[in-house]
Amino acid sequence: METAEGRNQTPISEFILLGFGNGPELQPLLFMLFLVIYLVTVAGNLLLFVLVVTDRHLHIPMYYLLGNLSWLETCYSCTILPRLLDSLLTGDRAISIKNCFVQLYLFGVLSSTENMLLAAMSFDRYIAICHPLRYTALMNGRVCCWLVAGAWLGSFLLSTIVDSLLFQLTFCGSKEIDHFFCDFAPIIKLSCSDTRTLELVTFVVAAVGFTAPCLLPPISYFFIISTILRIPSSSGRKKAFSTCSSHLIVLVVLYVTTITVYLVPTANTPKVVHKIFSVFYTVLTPLLNPIIYSLRNKEVSESLRKALLKLSDFGNRHRI
Ligand SMILES: *[C@@H]1O[C@H](CO)[C@@H](O)[C@H](O)[C@H]1NC(C)=O
Repeated sequence: METAEGRNQTPISEFILLGFGNGPELQPLLFMLFLVIYLVTVAGNLLLFVLVVTDRHLHIPMYYLLGNLSWLETCYSCTILPRLLDSLLTGDRAISIKNCFVQLYLFGVLSSTENMLLAAMSFDRYIAICHPLRYTALMNGRVCCWLVAGAWLGSFLLSTIVDSLLFQLTFCGSKEIDHFFCDFAPIIKLSCSDTRTLELVTFVVAAVGFTAPCLLPPISYFFIISTILRIPSSSGRKKAFSTCSSHLIVLVVLYVTTITVYLVPTANTPKVVHKIFSVFYTVLTPLLNPIIYSLRNKEVSESLRKALLKLSDFGNRHRI
């Protein structure tokens, strides 16, 4: 490799995650900001998870998938934010290669599972709105279990294939990653091994495991929206749309930010724009999910209201 020549060839054992620069006055501010985001994300998603598990009105496939998604989003924030908070607090931006790989692997598995769950959720809405009479036959607890299990297993498998190649790379020379977590592309760039096989395998895996589940939601929503538009009464249209609007908002936010990060060329956009959009899809989507569902979705907000009433009842009774 040309870039590695003339440099120090001894393999390195740690990376430096540059994060958000090193302005000392900015770090405490960012720490507080991400701490609040982290706490709200974990609390909100766990709350949503508990609601789905405990409220019998929510025991239908649509909410099973939502409960699984909120569990996943909790794990997802836990792979990225604690490490970022730690380095903002202590100023220590070094991460061992091993820890970096663990983060990369978990991030790969979780983001791929998230993608597949979101695809499963849009498939569920597609059946519910476009083929309502066949809903119970096509979408029941068992099918839902298969979809969830398939999403997790598929993601583990795909990530393991890619990462088993990635973990064999050697790194020498530069160890600075201009990002706030260990993402795939910046790490490959730092390697001084031959990455052609890895890039080919990644391309195939991404085409199968990422592009297909990413295409499903837009296609489903194309049919969903054209079906909704053909409903004659406006109250019927509203009712049908209200069952999928929360999911649609979450999808749009995720897609717009992810596409911006990965498709906008890096060469002529400032690095900071990329980082901000990465914050959007890695940190803010998990935060938005419970907020959007509890505000916009009738059944979830009703279930939340009942849970809060019960809680305040319980509090009152014990105070007297
Ligand atoms: C996750 O999905 C499975 C399979 O449908 C379901 O049995 C389980 O209850 C779901 N978990 C939550 C928290 O909804």
